[in-house]
Amino acid sequence: MSDPILQLKGVKTDIAQYHILHGVDLDVPRGAVTMLLGRNGAGKTTTLRTIMGLWKPHQGEILLDGAHINGLNPAQIARRGIGFVPEDMGIFSDLTVEENLRLAALSGQPIPERMDWIFAAFPALKTFWKSAAGTLSGGQKQMLSVARAVVEDRELYLIDEPSKGLAPAIVATLARALKDLKNRGATILMVEQNFSLAKALGDHVAVMDDGRIIWSGAMAELASDTNLQERLMGLKMESAG
Ligand SMILES: Nc1ncnc2c1ncn2[C@@H]1O[C@H](COP(=O)(O)OP(=O)(O)OP(=O)(O)O)[C@@H](O)[C@H]1O
Ligand SMILES: [Mg+2]
Repeated sequence: MSDPILQLKGVKTDIAQYHILHGVDLDVPRGAVTMLLGRNGAGKTTTLRTIMGLWKPHQGEILLDGAHINGLNPAQIARRGIGFVPEDMGIFSDLTVEENLRLAALSGQPIPERMDWIFAAFPALKTFWKSAAGTLSGGQKQMLSVARAVVEDRELYLIDEPSKGLAPAIVATLARALKDLKNRGATILMVEQNFSLAKALGDHVAVMDDGRIIWSGAMAELASDTNLQERLMGLKMESAG
């Protein structure tokens, strides 16, 4: 795999006294979507949070565009060009939709062209522009969380389980928006438990188990091999569709 934008080499992360990541090796190629899959508790969220600097690895290296980013704080890592959609959405409930998006823009001002795209992808955000984010539905909050990450161009987007707990119609809206982002050439590392969505969006896959990457390769290879899916991810993954 040539020219990865992000590389993790032997990354080990502890949370309190627990060893959670046991040496994660991961290459994220530029201009493609890499899916990070694995059972509940495998360490997917911990991996994304470690990349963002929200957990400090005690061993290993994290390179963005060839430069070390381990040790930087989350704000510094965001400024290096990583947009993050956290598992818990990370929006400010007391602030309006508008304020949430303004704060997400590192320049202080969302790009107008990007706002047009966000409103077209997620019309609800335009409708509730002046409403407190806390009053939005779960699906609308997730749209706002994605919109915050894409309000400006980023080198890389980290997206943690955007479909979690959402109704199928909302998942379809998010899937369309993410597909569009991908078609614009974005580089994405995404965690997704919904295998049909993962298949539809992913070019590459890394599968985690117990704090390590246990398999990586082309999504087409994993998608066409149900035995491999079962071996790597057990029966918890939805394989329908
Ligand atoms: N704040 C924390 N304190 C203690 N243990 C934690 C904490 N966060 C995560 N863990 C543990 O770390 C392991 C990996 O969790 P993580 O959230 O990274 O998994 P995941 O693959 O994202 O799972 P899921 O699919 O359920 O989101 C789990 O055993 C979890 O219990
Ligand atoms: Mg998780």
